[in-house]
Amino acid sequence: MRRTGGLRLVSIVVAASTALLSGSAGRADQAADEAYERPYKICGQNVVDRGTYNGYRRYHAYCHVCHGPDGLGSSYAPNLVDSLKVMKRDDFSQVVAGGRQNLAGGKESVMPAFYEVADVMNYLEDIYSYLKARSDGQLGRGRPERCPS
Ligand code: HEC
Repeated sequence: MRRTGGLRLVSIVVAASTALLSGSAGRADQAADEAYERPYKICGQNVVDRGTYNGYRRYHAYCHVCHGPDGLGSSYAPNLVDSLKVMKRDDFSQVVAGGRQNLAGGKESVMPAFYEVADVMNYLEDIYSYLKARSDGQLGRGRPERCPS
């Protein structure tokens, strides 16, 4: 039975890569990627969707002590507005969940792991969304407003 399952998986993977190669599916895939990497919505100047607004609040509750207000960095931790210009969403999630350390050359640079902090992990998309909107230059500093619902 397991063997059959494995074979089925292989054929799904093959079908998926074939779809990727065909033009229209490729474009749909690109649009999906874009939506994944940029989950925020902007309704006006400094007016954002509910998730992004929530991300602003969570960021300032859990991250800004090290990464500075508005994601702009501090002497201790990097500027995340800059980081997200190159960092992909999955890499971001991985660092936040798993943490990271750089103890080279007598430095003591520690990003804590948040995988046990539900208030962060449950809203990882929102926090990412907020920082990505900042990074893309779509959202200014300070507290945003929420799109009318
Ligand atoms: C105790 C301080 C501290 C807190 C709190 C903290 N960070 Fe960090 N973070 C760091 C440090 C220091 C680094 C750099 C680690 C290194 O040198 O590898 C870092 C690195 C990162 C990176 C990688 C940046 C890059 O350019 O590679 C991301 C993403 C990140 N933090 C996101 C967050 C988020 C989101 C939160 C809040 C949920 C958060 N951090 C809370 C200290 C902190």
